[in-house]
Amino acid sequence: MIDIHHHLLFGVDDGSPDLETSLEMARVSAENGVTHIVCTPHANSQYPYNAPLIAERYAELCAELDGWMGLSLACDFHMTAENIYDAAANPWRYSIDGKGYLMIEFSNTAIPPQIIDAMFMLQSAGYTLIITHPERYPALLGQPELLAEMIRKGSLVQVTSGSLYGRFGKMAEAFSNELLDRNWIHFLATDAHSITGRPPHLKKGYDYVAQCAGVETAERLCVTNPLVAVEGAPWPPQPEPLGLWDRVPLKFHAKRFAGPPRRDAGNDAPGSGKGGFFKRLFGR
Ligand SMILES: [Fe+2]
Repeated sequence: MIDIHHHLLFGVDDGSPDLETSLEMARVSAENGVTHIVCTPHANSQYPYNAPLIAERYAELCAELDGWMGLSLACDFHMTAENIYDAAANPWRYSIDGKGYLMIEFSNTAIPPQIIDAMFMLQSAGYTLIITHPERYPALLGQPELLAEMIRKGSLVQVTSGSLYGRFGKMAEAFSNELLDRNWIHFLATDAHSITGRPPHLKKGYDYVAQCAGVETAERLCVTNPLVAVEGAPWPPQPEPLGLWDRVPLKFHAKRFAGPPRRDAGNDAPGSGKGGFFKRLFGR
């Protein structure tokens, strides 16, 4: 399997703090059947993308792993105006190994409709966008039709493995399972940050998908689609996304879930602002 969302690089964000932990995380990934990890350090206000440091740590980790775990370098790309302008001006700087597939992350607090315009700007620059864990943004769970529109406009979807079996709360579990039922998921990944707190347990997600949707789907989400993204190959045909083009409303309704969202139910990008940048970006 290939895990395309993983905070394996040490000392660059809230993922692995040191080389020793990174090596242990890689070992746990290998135990889970993972042979290749895409390192996705944050690029947000709290953890700016320090390219020279990231390149240095990536080279050190590659040397330490000595080929027993394949590695790629990418980014957990937060959708700020600054990031968007930089990525648009420097294709394909933040994408997986610079080959075009870009992992994008939204704000927890607000996702305005103008996000579609911002995404189009990146797509026009040549990126293929992968929406990371849509099931974990409270701001998106309240307007799931916005995700449908993003998919119709060509974005791909990566769900966190643990969301499917309830690790991120009932809302994320319900939403991600409906996405699975509808063939709206293209990738499963761990978004691992540590060995115990947010571990790289991809096999559990693979087994869950294999049981609920069949081995073929599990292979597609954990092996073949991730390989396409790592290689930067053209996106292949996928199973029919049920209810997408004929706009069948999702069964999921956030209001059915009582109580406040769990603290870890959203993304891991604090300081993301409240969408005001879109106003500055597009003047509305
Ligand atoms: Fe992440």
